[in-house]
Amino acid sequence: MSVEIKKVKYLPELRSVAELADKIWHECFVGIISAGQIDYMVEKFQSLDAMIRQVEEQGYTYLAVYDGDDLCGYIAVKPEQDDRFFLSKLYLRADKRGQGIASAMLARVFDEARAAGKSSVYLTVNKHNDRAIAVYKKTGFVVTDEVVTDIGSGYVMDDYIFTYTL
Ligand SMILES: CC(C)(COP(=O)(O)OP(=O)(O)OC[C@H]1O[C@@H](n2cnc3c(N)ncnc32)[C@H](O)[C@@H]1OP(=O)(O)O)[C@@H](O)C(=O)NCCC(=O)NCCS
Repeated sequence: MSVEIKKVKYLPELRSVAELADKIWHECFVGIISAGQIDYMVEKFQSLDAMIRQVEEQGYTYLAVYDGDDLCGYIAVKPEQDDRFFLSKLYLRADKRGQGIASAMLARVFDEARAAGKSSVYLTVNKHNDRAIAVYKKTGFVVTDEVVTDIGSGYVMDDYIFTYTL
C-alpha cells in the first residue's frame, strides 16, 4: 500500500472526485438515510457544480486520496473565521476501509489545521453512522453538540458535532 494525499487543483481531478463521491455516498448511506435523500444530498453537496462553488466561493479545499494510482477516497476542509477548522468530508471507498488509510487521512487534516493556525477541528456526523462515529471517538474526537439541519425538500440532517482539540 502506498498512500498519497494531495490537494485537488484542477477541474479534471475534481470531476473524478465527484464521480467517486457519487459511488461512495450511494453505498455508505444505505440504511442510514433514504435513497431519495442520498440522491438529493449528492446533487446538493457532491455534484461537480456544487463542489466548484464550494472551492471557488466558500473556502473549501478538496484533497484526493490515492493508493498507488487508484483514487479511493477524498477529504474536504475549510478554515473558519475563528480558531476552528471544519472537516466537511472524509470518505474512503469500501474496499479500502480497515487498512489504516483513515488514520493517515485524519493526520493530514490535523496537519492542515495546524498549518492554518487553528486550535481545533470539528465535523458533523449522522447520529446513525456508527462506523464513522467509532473512528472519530477512537481518534480522540468528542461530542460537543448536536444539530438538526433543514436541507430543503423535506429532508433534514440529524447530526452530532464532534470536536478534536489540537
Ligand atoms: C469514515 C472512514 C473514512 C473511516 O475509514 P476506515 O478505513 O473505516 O477506518 P479504520 O477502519 O481505519 O478505523 C480507524 C481507526 O478507528 C478504529 N475503529 C474502527 N471501527 C471501530 C470500532 N467499531 N470501535 C473502535 N474502534 C474502531 C480502528 O481500529 C482504527 O484505529 P487504528 O488506526 O488505531 O487501528 C470510512 O469508514 C468511510 O469512508 N466511511 C463511509 C463514509 C463516511 O461515513 N464518512 C464520514 C462521514 S461524517
